[in-house]
Amino acid sequence: MSGVDERGSQVAVPTLRADGKVVVITGASRGLGRAMALGFAEGGADVVVSSRRLAGCEAVADEVRALGRKALAVACHVGDWNQCADLVTATVAEFGRIDVLVNNAGIAPVPPSLSGITEELYAKTMDVNFKGPLRLIGLAAEHMGPGSAVINISSVASIRPSPFTVVYAAAKAAQNALTVAAARELGPRDIRVNGIICGTFHTDSFHRSAPTEEARENLAKNLSLGRIGYPEEIVGTALYLASDASSYLTGQLVRLDGGGS
Ligand SMILES: NC(=O)c1ccc[n+]([C@@H]2O[C@H](COP(=O)([O-])OP(=O)(O)OC[C@H]3O[C@@H](n4cnc5c(N)ncnc54)[C@H](OP(=O)(O)O)[C@@H]3O)[C@@H](O)[C@H]2O)c1
Repeated sequence: MSGVDERGSQVAVPTLRADGKVVVITGASRGLGRAMALGFAEGGADVVVSSRRLAGCEAVADEVRALGRKALAVACHVGDWNQCADLVTATVAEFGRIDVLVNNAGIAPVPPSLSGITEELYAKTMDVNFKGPLRLIGLAAEHMGPGSAVINISSVASIRPSPFTVVYAAAKAAQNALTVAAARELGPRDIRVNGIICGTFHTDSFHRSAPTEEARENLAKNLSLGRIGYPEEIVGTALYLASDASSYLTGQLVRLDGGGS
């Protein structure tokens, strides 16, 4: 579709479709990552489905293929420098390029107290939430052309840290800084980098942290929409940030949190 702007020139009305794009998603075997894998496939993209465990990736890859798109399942622990390189190499060998990278894999282990934070918990949390996205952006950008996009999946913890989540919050805050810095470096090549600051969504990790209905309802009542989000509700924002509909938007952190305070 197209229209005419105030100067009389033709302007294209963008769509959120992702037809023919090659999309790499980490942590795509379940939760928000799986929802985005299926959403991008519905939107016409081919999807590289990655997480540590290949079996889970294969299952989602089969779901992508059932939607009529190509899929590649790749096992990758994003905290491992070399496995990140292997993920990009495997993607380029199969599809020849990367159009969209979604840095979605994340973990939020909860220490008992500040003094109870172990070096292992610190390293693991920083590696998965920050080192992996940092490494993958650098690698993927080598295979991205103009119009490509990176989406970093962040958390409200990064801007509103709470007790017991300080390492996770700091790792996601570092990821936010990466979003802004990478947007500045890659902008001249027309590669856009944005983040989604997620509130709470019904996924395995959220249900582990709020195991009872009562705990979830307590969280929900502080939100403007009064409910926890469903994984499918990240798809529209992800498609928007990946598409030409957001062609002038980069280095931004979009809050997707049901109107959290
Ligand atoms: N759900 C929420 O309420 C919420 C809120 C704020 C932010 N977020 C963020 O949203 C993202 C997705 O969260 P989610 O709730 O969908 O998580 P989830 O349901 O726990 O799923 C996590 C995914 O990441 C993969 N994964 C875990 N560690 C990995 C590693 N080291 N390397 C590669 N993949 C790994 C898991 O598969 P394997 O086990 O096979 O590796 C799985 O596919 C995370 O970055 C999280 O911080 C979520």
